[in-house]
Amino acid sequence: MTTALITGATAGIGAAFARRLAADGHNLVLVARDTKRLREQATELHDRHGIEAEVLTADLATEGGIETVEKRLSDPRHPVDLLVNNAGFGNKGRYLEVSMADELTMLKVHCEAVLRLTSAAVPGMRERGRGGVVNVASVAAFLPRGTYGASKAWVVQFTQGAAKDLTGSGVRLMALCPGFVRTEFHQRAGMGTDNIPSWMWLDADKVVAAALADLARGKQVSIPDARYKTLLGAAKLVPRGLLGGITSKTGRKYGPQ
Ligand SMILES: NC(=O)c1ccc[n+]([C@@H]2O[C@H](COP(=O)([O-])OP(=O)(O)OC[C@H]3O[C@@H](n4cnc5c(N)ncnc54)[C@H](OP(=O)(O)O)[C@@H]3O)[C@@H](O)[C@H]2O)c1
Repeated sequence: MTTALITGATAGIGAAFARRLAADGHNLVLVARDTKRLREQATELHDRHGIEAEVLTADLATEGGIETVEKRLSDPRHPVDLLVNNAGFGNKGRYLEVSMADELTMLKVHCEAVLRLTSAAVPGMRERGRGGVVNVASVAAFLPRGTYGASKAWVVQFTQGAAKDLTGSGVRLMALCPGFVRTEFHQRAGMGTDNIPSWMWLDADKVVAAALADLARGKQVSIPDARYKTLLGAAKLVPRGLLGGITSKTGRKYGPQ
C-alpha cells in the first residue's frame, strides 16, 4: 500500500484524485482549509474503500500552512509516495482589476507552495528510488491569461525542468493541464460560465483517469482530452497578439454571475 498526499482535496479535481486513488487502494493525506469537509471526506473514503485517510488542515496561502504540509511530506517515518499539488483558485477580472493582495496570494498558492511542497517530498522519494508528483496547471499555461496563466506557465516550466533533472532517479514529475472542468472553481471566483460552450467542459473523474494513465506512461505534461490537444495545436498557428485578444474575450470576462 502506498500513500498519496493531495492538496485541495475537498472539491473538484482534488476530490476526484482522492476518490480514484482510494478506490485503487492508496492511503491518503487530504489537505485543504475546511476541516469539517476534510473529516467527512476522510470518513467516507475510509468506510467505502478500507484505506487510511489522514486529515491535514492547511491554508497554502500562509507560511504556517505551507510549513505544516512540508513537515508531513518530509517525515521519513510516514513516507508519501505520490504528491498531487492541486489546490488553486481563480481571480475574476483582468490586469489592474484584481487587487495586488489577491494577485500575490495566487502566486503564493500556485507557485511558492508548489515549489516548496515538491521540494519537501522529492528528496525522500529519490532516496527510496521511487515516487511521483503531479502538479496541476491548466491549458491557460499556454495562453496569454494574466497572473493565472502566468502562474500555471511557471508550474509547467518548473515541473518539466525538475523532471529532467531527476531523470534516472525513479521519481516522476508531471504537469497536468486541463481545460474547463466542472468543479467549484468558477463559482468560488464569482465567474459566470454561461458563455462557455458545453462541449468545452470536462469531467473531473475523466481528467484524473487520463492524468494517472499519463503519469504511468512517464509523460511530463498531460493534456487530458483530444478536444484540448487539438485546440492547443491550432492555437500554436495563431499569432500571439491575436490569441491574446481572443482569450481575453472568451476567458476572464466569463460574464457577471
Ligand atoms: N476547474 C477548471 O476549469 C480548471 C481548469 C484547469 C485547471 N484547474 C486547476 O485545478 C486545480 C483544482 O481546481 P478545481 O477546479 O478543482 O477547484 P475547486 O473545485 O474550487 O477546488 C479547489 C480546492 O482547493 C482548495 N484550496 C483553495 N485554496 C486553498 C488554499 N489557500 N489552501 C489550501 N487549499 C486550498 C479548496 O479547499 P478549501 O476551500 O477547503 O481550502 C478545494 O479543495 C486548481 O489548481 C485550478 O487552477 C481548474
